[in-house]
Amino acid sequence: MSKEKDIDKALFNAAEKVRKNAHVPYSNFKVGAAILAEDGNIYAGCNVENAAYPQGVCAEGGAISIMVAAGQKQIKRIYITASGADPVTPCGGCRQKIREFAATDVIIICHGVDGKPFEKTLDELLPYSFGPEHLDAVHLNIKNSGESK
Ligand code: THU
Repeated sequence: MSKEKDIDKALFNAAEKVRKNAHVPYSNFKVGAAILAEDGNIYAGCNVENAAYPQGVCAEGGAISIMVAAGQKQIKRIYITASGADPVTPCGGCRQKIREFAATDVIIICHGVDGKPFEKTLDELLPYSFGPEHLDAVHLNIKNSGESK
């Protein structure tokens, strides 16, 4: 088995393990997400819904919080699992959350576990994206001209 296949198997297993614990009394739609971080460790999260619906959090957001709490800030690969055959791609908000901690060529694997995994780069899922470096440019402007443009 190739190294990449081994990593994907480990990410799949981690996402599936936490997906079982998803708190989804409203949608009954369980999602798991597992991140391979720069330190080589895997950080996983599941969706956690709330009676006040907008307060729910997605699996990807949960995994990112756990990664950051562990002191990691670089996503190297991310694997998302859900039930059914259709791959569940991250919602718009989660694409932006991933963008904060991932290079635009990072691979996102989406897997409806009854079907085949689907792979896209972050740039494919979130083209022409806005990220932290744009704010750095703004701060540079402030430094150079004394005011933000
Ligand atoms: N959900 C995720 O956790 N990740 C996604 O990428 C798509 C949607 C969750 C949110 C909610 O708990 C449920 O799936 C149905 O939208």
